[in-house]
Amino acid sequence: MSVKSPSDNAVTARHEFACKLARKVGLQALRYWNEQGVDGLGTEVKGLQDFVTKADKDAEHTIRTELANMFPEDGFVGEETGGAAVSGGYWVVDPIDGTTNYLRGLRHWGVSIAYVLDGKTRLGIVYDAPTDRLYHAQLGYGAFRDKLPIKVSSTKDPHAALGILGDSRRRPIEAYLQHIKALYDAGIEHRKMGSAAIGIVRVAEGIVDFYYEGHLNSWDALAAVLIAQEAGGVIRVPELGEFMTNGGETLCATPALADLLIELLVSETTTSN
Ligand code: IPD
Ligand code: CA
Ligand code: CA
Repeated sequence: MSVKSPSDNAVTARHEFACKLARKVGLQALRYWNEQGVDGLGTEVKGLQDFVTKADKDAEHTIRTELANMFPEDGFVGEETGGAAVSGGYWVVDPIDGTTNYLRGLRHWGVSIAYVLDGKTRLGIVYDAPTDRLYHAQLGYGAFRDKLPIKVSSTKDPHAALGILGDSRRRPIEAYLQHIKALYDAGIEHRKMGSAAIGIVRVAEGIVDFYYEGHLNSWDALAAVLIAQEAGGVIRVPELGEFMTNGGETLCATPALADLLIELLVSETTTSN
């Protein structure tokens, strides 16, 4: 039986707390939508096709406050309130990933919480609120949906492969169009679903075979990427410092298709797991 180190025990304490917190704020956001409906969410425009609702702000406020009360020594980086990576442990949070889906009532969004320590993502938690499923992983200890271990698909044949692509206005459209064509020509099917975190946990649980997006921010991706990695996926992302500062290209794939997908899709300097 392996014995956890003191540092692992500190991470485990954070794991349990953050799982409960993700579920709590996800259910609050769901309740808020059910009470307010599409027109009552206090939606503001941050940019072209980029929105924030009162639910996003409330969720981040709750996560930030409760983590600070429980673990005052930890740093915090959140999509809505900012922050920077620090030398000790810190949290990286997207309170609602898939805000456009959330505000429209499409059931593909979630709460994403990652914890980084000593230059590595140590915890990844993604709460899929519309289905009440909690995806979580601690580095080195496997990936889970609620209490069940999960693993990536065993798809080998590209002609039977299904993945999810993401895209945003942060990047020119041309590369995205080329990627659609490259996948099509290789006989691979894809979807675009509007939440990177939920798309990547779909890879982790083997429902789809890959997720690719030309640019994600750290808060969109860190938690789900660790879950996909712990579920046996091949990961291509920028090294952590670069990801925290600028974000970057992200691929999570089932192993048998990874080389082909890297060839078809990946263009930047990414690191593998
Ligand atoms: C976005 C979603 C979307 C992805 C974008 C992200 P948000 O995050 O994950 O699927 O394509 O790149 O910015 O704005 O819904 O938190
Ligand atoms: Ca996001
Ligand atoms: Ca968000």
